[in-house]
Amino acid sequence: MSGYHTGNKVIDETKQGEALVIDGVGSRKLYIESYGCQMNFADSEVVASILSESGYSTTRNMDEADLVLLNTCSIRDKAEQTVRKRLKAFHQVKNQRPNLKIGVLGCMAERVKDKLLDEEKLVDLVVGPDAYRDLPNLLEEVDSGRKAVNVILSKEETYADVNPVRLGLNKVSAFVSITRGCDNMCTFCVVPFTRGRERSRNPQTILEECQQLWENGYREITLLGQNVDSYLWYGGGLKKDFDKASDLAKASAVHFADLLHMVASALPEMRIRFSTSNPQDMTDDVLHAIAKHPNICNYIHLPVQSGSSRILHDMNRGHTREEYIGLIDRIRNIIPDCAISHDMITGFPGETEEDHQDTLSLMDYVRYQFGYMFKYSERPNTFAARKFEDNVPDEIKTRRLTEIIEKQNAHSLERNRERIGLVEEVLIEGNSKRSDQHWFGRTSQNTVVVFAKTGDESPGDLVHVRIDDCTSATLLGTLQN
Ligand code: SAH
Ligand code: F3S
Repeated sequence: MSGYHTGNKVIDETKQGEALVIDGVGSRKLYIESYGCQMNFADSEVVASILSESGYSTTRNMDEADLVLLNTCSIRDKAEQTVRKRLKAFHQVKNQRPNLKIGVLGCMAERVKDKLLDEEKLVDLVVGPDAYRDLPNLLEEVDSGRKAVNVILSKEETYADVNPVRLGLNKVSAFVSITRGCDNMCTFCVVPFTRGRERSRNPQTILEECQQLWENGYREITLLGQNVDSYLWYGGGLKKDFDKASDLAKASAVHFADLLHMVASALPEMRIRFSTSNPQDMTDDVLHAIAKHPNICNYIHLPVQSGSSRILHDMNRGHTREEYIGLIDRIRNIIPDCAISHDMITGFPGETEEDHQDTLSLMDYVRYQFGYMFKYSERPNTFAARKFEDNVPDEIKTRRLTEIIEKQNAHSLERNRERIGLVEEVLIEGNSKRSDQHWFGRTSQNTVVVFAKTGDESPGDLVHVRIDDCTSATLLGTLQN
């Protein structure tokens, strides 16, 4: 197992991609599956919107599709293998239905375009994350019998003006992209290569999208970026070119904390979440914004990757173990009831038993609510692949992964037990997966709560639930009047 999630949030690419669907009026049918990070799910909504202009409506039934798109993930080898299997299955279908068009979007489009198009002839269309506006033209190419490809990465593209078609089944909670790309260059990570340089979206368009979501009944938004803390709007352009901006542009620049204040004040009853935070870029201003606005959820996903300063240095994470602990302490001081989750990698090149013990002791210090834990997977062309040997044997990676998962499960259970007896504010998202007599929702801390329906409440309501019991992943409670 190279990818694993625990706790209550499932965004791992190892699960099968979800078919995203709306009923539309277009004459042609698009079936789209998304793998990987939340950004890919949000991008699929942008793609559905762009293609709706060309007469495509989405379907959940692959059998009636004219066009199948896979929005792919390259983050670990296993993610790519999952997509490859899926593509081969689609290719079989195409043998029976030659008119079916198959396309690859997202990070694999950047990484393995030639292989998919030429060597394996698995797909008709390959489109990278910054080229979705070109989809209608590329589809015309495909219609006239040619293969089509556009994987050009952009300095400006943020799809700021595209109004995403909301594809999720849940009509309560939506993603809103605020940045694209990443400049951090963590040595293990393929994202800076597949999604390009970091750029931020015009805050006005973010506000307008959030406003529209509120008017359409949504009650929670998650502001999305590979590194949201590094959001920086100064009139457009790449983050790395900020130094060259005019004094006026610099003085009126909007940082992430400013954006949080803007959105939280404009929509005081909308729940606001954000992901992903990066320890080296998170400022105290952001923590104060969370503390100030009751509608900004008390939850921070704060990947650390390792508890060893030596490994953090080799990962180019830009902070030490001590600095991370300092940030955890400030979070605890400024936002006393803040849940924190993590991403962790075991078996990074050169990781010793002592480094691994540092990871376990860091977990003991923080006692995270939950986490996403992975075995190191070498990604071609990254700094780590070029400079370090992938020298931790697989059995050791697996054993260390098991140890951190077990520790995390114990901490998740402890953290959830601490909530028993408390009355939590829960946003109802829908029916519980196990029973339609029960609702499922989340606390501000992002923990899932399941409780019996009483009849008067509905998805989108904020209700009070007394917590009676728990597992390591879920709180169980009773609705309070
Ligand atoms: N900032 C991004 C990170 C994307 S990658 C975000 O929005 O979440 C998500 C996680 O995958 C990383 O935090 C890291 O823990 C893991 N990951 C990335 N590259 C990896 C690799 N080569 N091997 C194993 N895990 C990796
Ligand atoms: Fe990857 Fe590090 Fe950016 S994990 S997405 S390079 S913050």
